[in-house]
Amino acid sequence: MSVSSPPPGAARDGAVEDLRATVGLQIQDEPLLRAIAGGLADVETMLRDVVKSDVPAVHDAALHLVEAGGKRFRPLFTLLSAQFGPKQGEQVLIAAAAVELVHLATLYHDDVMDEATMRRGAESVNSRWDNTVAILTGDYLFAHASRLVADLGTDAARIIAETFGELVSGQMRETVGPGPGDDPVEHYLTVIAQKTGSLIATSGRFGGMMSGAAEEHIQALRRFGDIIGAAFQISDDVIDIASPSVELGKAQGTDLREGVRTLPMLYALADPDTDPRLVELLAGPITDDDLVAEALELLRRSSGLERARETLSDYASRARAELASLPASPARDACESVADYLVARTF
Ligand code: IPE
Ligand code: IPE
Ligand code: MG
Ligand code: MG
Repeated sequence: MSVSSPPPGAARDGAVEDLRATVGLQIQDEPLLRAIAGGLADVETMLRDVVKSDVPAVHDAALHLVEAGGKRFRPLFTLLSAQFGPKQGEQVLIAAAAVELVHLATLYHDDVMDEATMRRGAESVNSRWDNTVAILTGDYLFAHASRLVADLGTDAARIIAETFGELVSGQMRETVGPGPGDDPVEHYLTVIAQKTGSLIATSGRFGGMMSGAAEEHIQALRRFGDIIGAAFQISDDVIDIASPSVELGKAQGTDLREGVRTLPMLYALADPDTDPRLVELLAGPITDDDLVAEALELLRRSSGLERARETLSDYASRARAELASLPASPARDACESVADYLVARTF
């Protein structure tokens, strides 16, 4: 155990309590609660072990965002998915830690690309140190994620490599933007499936695989993850507009500043009744704070926000439908609670 880990009992209850607040996780079943809380505590220990480095700059920058927290949604989903199989061993925990490391690495790089100043309620690494430190630390975390997955076999190694390729393609597709003949909403939905859905789908798939679940259940978890992952991103894009910064743990309106058009913006632009001033503001990146505030205010009153919530609701329903092919269990109920919450948190 790392010295910085809290005492096991207290930490375990706290981790699930936190997840109730951050991802709406509801677990009534006592044995499941213990299994998930225990698994999350073990994942925390693994994450802290992985970021240890003889190079102090790497260690400090890697630990910075591990310690800043985050929801740990991907490891949670891996652990929940593992409940559908008979084996609950070390491999499940390694998979859960690895998907969080891949996610974390992408956040280091994403904050460089998005020029973000805040992440997980703390100063982003690119802002506290610089872009070079953030890029190299992201690479370091990817390297260690790959090392962990190598112990899970060649299938798992291939899957994580393919997932990472897809995630990067999504980030690139977002950076380049839709082509002249592309439908912007279709483009957005492809981007989020790739950049966010792919890793969450793999988290569910890994949980099923490492626990020895039936192939049809592994595939159902993968599909649920794919859809819930996209829903998660839509929900994130809605609250980026609808919630204050303190609740986000990151600066509000980052997408506006970067000129990235998220779903509420695309829907607002497609509505002929949208205030022409908003259309004008959304024409490109907005750098001025007052103009960002003005655009946020107009977006909150636009039809785009409401329509994005409707699309989110559709995704959540589709995700719930995938759960129907899994056996009824406390773990399935827990997955369902997260699907419900993603919609609820945008109000
Ligand atoms: C942030 O992911 C990027 C998105 C996919 C929206 P999370 O919202 O899971 O970030 P953390 O891990 O809780 O910080
Ligand atoms: C986060 O994307 C990175 C990935 C999903 C790979 P965003 O740029 O949309 O998310 P935030 O708002 O910075 O967390
Ligand atoms: Mg970003
Ligand atoms: Mg981004």
